[in-house]
Amino acid sequence: MNHKRLIIASNRLPFTVEEDDKGDLKLKASAGGLVTGLSAYLDSLQHSSFTEGNEYVWLGWPGASISDEHKEHIKQIAESQFNAYPVFMEEETMDAFYHGFCNKTIWPLFHYFPTYVVYEKESWESYKEVNEHFCETIMEILRPDDILWIHDYHLMLLPRLIRQRMSEVSIGFFLHIPFPSYELFRLLPKNWAKEILQGLLGADVIGFHTHDYTQYFLRSTLRLLGYENNMGKMFIDHRLVKADTFPMGIDFYRFNNAVNSRETQIEREKLQNILSGLKTIVSVDRLDYSKGLLNRLEGYKLFLANNPQWHGKVTLLLVVVPSRIGVDRYQAIKTKIDQMVGNINGAYSTLNWVPINYKYGHVPFHQLVALYSVSDVALITPLRDGMNLVSKEYVASRKDMTGVLILSELAGASKELGEAILINPNDREEIAASIKEALEMPVEEQQNRLERMQQRLKNYHVVKWASEFIQELDYIKDEQRRFQTK
Ligand code: F6P
Repeated sequence: MNHKRLIIASNRLPFTVEEDDKGDLKLKASAGGLVTGLSAYLDSLQHSSFTEGNEYVWLGWPGASISDEHKEHIKQIAESQFNAYPVFMEEETMDAFYHGFCNKTIWPLFHYFPTYVVYEKESWESYKEVNEHFCETIMEILRPDDILWIHDYHLMLLPRLIRQRMSEVSIGFFLHIPFPSYELFRLLPKNWAKEILQGLLGADVIGFHTHDYTQYFLRSTLRLLGYENNMGKMFIDHRLVKADTFPMGIDFYRFNNAVNSRETQIEREKLQNILSGLKTIVSVDRLDYSKGLLNRLEGYKLFLANNPQWHGKVTLLLVVVPSRIGVDRYQAIKTKIDQMVGNINGAYSTLNWVPINYKYGHVPFHQLVALYSVSDVALITPLRDGMNLVSKEYVASRKDMTGVLILSELAGASKELGEAILINPNDREEIAASIKEALEMPVEEQQNRLERMQQRLKNYHVVKWASEFIQELDYIKDEQRRFQTK
C-alpha cells in the first residue's frame, strides 16, 4: 500500500477559464486525451487505497491569462472543485511558449513534419522560462515524499529543474506524442536537443506509448549525451533512471456503458433520423495536419470514384474539433478541408444524398458515443499520432459487436489494434480499397476482430496504464535506495 501524495503537472488543467459575454469568468471542463485519461485515473483513486485521503493535486495553466484581481478567486475554485493548483501566465509568454516552441517546433518535429518546424531562439527562451515558472510554482507545494508525475512535450525541461531543487523526490515523466527517430531529433540545434534530453533524464522513469518511441529516445541519449543503457536503464550521475513503454488505454466501460444510456439513445435517434438507413463512416479528430484529414478525404473521394454502386448508400460523418487556432498552419489546413469537402459534395451529391456530413466544432460526450455507435466504419488515418485514443473509443463503443476500424499504421494504437484494417495514410488507393473492404466485411468477421480488440482494451485500460507507471516509479526508487546502501 502506498501512502504518498500524487502531484500531476501538465500544461492543460482539467478545466479552462473563459470569459463570458458579460465579462465574468467561467470554468469549462476541458477535453482531450491526456485530461480525460488522467481524470479517469484520479477518479479511481477515490475508490482505492493508493493515497492517504486520496490526496492529489493537479498543477497546470488555466487556459487564459488571469488578471491579478481574479487570481485568488480562480485559485479557490480550482482547489475546491478540481483539486487543482493553477500556474498563472501572461498571455504573451504563453503565446511564445504554447503557440511558439511547443506547437511550431516540437509538435511538427516530433510528428515528422520537418519542413514545418520553426527554429526561433526567442520561443526556445520562452519554453525555458515557462518550464522554470512551472518549477517555481511546483516548489510552493512539493514535499520530498510526494510523487511528481509530469506530462507531455510542453514540460520536458521540468524533471531536471525539480531534481536540482529537491534531489530525492520521485519524478515520473510521460510523453503523450511520438518521440522521433534520432535523424529527426538531431535537427534541433544541438544545445536545445541536449537540454531537452537532460531535462527528461531528471525523471526517475520516462514513459512512452510504444516500444519504438522508447528506443528512439534511448538512441538519442546515446548519440547526443553518450549514455549507454541496459534494457532502458541508465546511470545518470550515479542515479538510476529508466525509460520504458506504457501504451495509454481508455476508460473502456465509460464508453461501453454509455452506449445504452438514455442521453446517448436520444442522440442516436436524432442521428438515425438524418442517416435514414445509410451505411455510415465516422471520422473524428482535432483539427491538425498530423491527423491526415486531407489524405482521408482524398481516399474517400477515390472510393466514390471507383465504386458508383455505393453512391446514395453511404455517408461520411466528418467531425473536426477546433484546435490551436492561433497557429497559422492550423488555420491553413481548415481552409483546405472546407474546400475539399465542398468539392466532394459538389461533385457527388444528389438532391436527397450528401456523401459528407461535416461538422466543425466540439462534440459533447453522449453525442460522441452516439456517433461511434451508429457508425458501421471508423476511418482514422493520421500521418503520425503518438497513440490515437479515438480508435480505442470507437472499438469500446461497439456494444453490438459490429463495426470495422480502419486505422493508420503510423498511429501508436496500431501496435495494439492489429485486427483493424491497417493502412498507410499516404496511400490513397489503399484507403479507398479499405473503405470498400470495411463496408462489405461479413458480420462474423467484424465480431471476431472486435472481440479481440475489446478484450485487449478491457485488460489494459487507462487506470492500469497509470497504475503500472506509478508502480514502476516506486520500483525504480527502491532500486536506487538499494544501490545507495551497497
Ligand atoms: O496529443 C497530445 C496532446 O497534448 C493531448 O493530450 C491533447 O488532447 C492534445 O494534444 C491537444 O492539446 P492542446 O489542446 O492542449 O494543444
